[in-house]
Amino acid sequence: MTLPSFSVLHAAGVQSERIAELFWIYFYLSAAIFVLMTLAFVVSITRGRAADESTRVPLSKSVQRFRFRTVGVATALTVVTLVVMLLLSVVTSRALASLNTKDAVQVKVIAHKWWWEFTYPAAVAGTQFTTAYEMHIPVGRTVEVDLASSDVIHSFWVPTLHGKRDAIPSKHSSLFLRADRAGRYEGQCAEFCGIQHANMRFVVVAETDTEFKAWLAHSLTPAPVPDDSIQVRGRDVFLKSRCIVCHAIGGTDAFATVGPNLTHLASRGFIGMGTLQNTREHLAGWIVDPQSTKPGVIMPATPFDPDDLNALVTYLASLR
Ligand code: CUA
Repeated sequence: MTLPSFSVLHAAGVQSERIAELFWIYFYLSAAIFVLMTLAFVVSITRGRAADESTRVPLSKSVQRFRFRTVGVATALTVVTLVVMLLLSVVTSRALASLNTKDAVQVKVIAHKWWWEFTYPAAVAGTQFTTAYEMHIPVGRTVEVDLASSDVIHSFWVPTLHGKRDAIPSKHSSLFLRADRAGRYEGQCAEFCGIQHANMRFVVVAETDTEFKAWLAHSLTPAPVPDDSIQVRGRDVFLKSRCIVCHAIGGTDAFATVGPNLTHLASRGFIGMGTLQNTREHLAGWIVDPQSTKPGVIMPATPFDPDDLNALVTYLASLR
């Protein structure tokens, strides 16, 4: 059976493997206990006699001793099982904290209602950039996820890579993960944060070191310059509209940080945090009426005349 990539049991990294191992140990242990308890229950109801005061005879000393011993052994086994489960959980926690964090790739993650912002801090001055929805990481290297929230409590969760970690306003927390297989791994906010909580998705793209470096280099470049008159018109429409109150496009005069950075929007597979495939039609629909796709989203409906909208979408679709 092949499980989807959004599964804690389909580990793609060392941290999630440790969590999955613990899960299976707990699962088999609990299953064994369930079977034993059911057997004991069946035996007791089939072999026990109905309580009837008139025919009850006092128990012999040996039967009493047997019963005391049985209860004693069962209690001891319960305590031992619980202690073993506790120890296994402590061992897993320590293993999760033991990941080598030297030379970790740092990604600053800010959770917003309802989108994810990823900032790659500058290794060299002036080389920091911000993106949204897609978090790229290199395979085989530890990644430090530095988590924060801009509004309410959210929770960063990529089941195939690690457990959940809350993003709490005015508090930083961090998480160390490592992908050991290349792939695209679904992430999801795991703490109810409002009406669009379920549509607060993201994707982790784990790729080879060469691909990752190429992505970093590309992400650092400003947005492509429009190369025809429709794209030029689209850029002008964007810069004169209220879009710039919230969004940034590198290399232009739009640098707001309220909403997702659009510098390389066309390179992302989805818009609206995984709700719509990134096509021209969806982009146009999203700009004109985002509320029908994600009711409650902060982005307001922004009407344009058809030619302006066409130019705007053409320009946005060119931002690779
Ligand atoms: Cu953010 Cu739920």
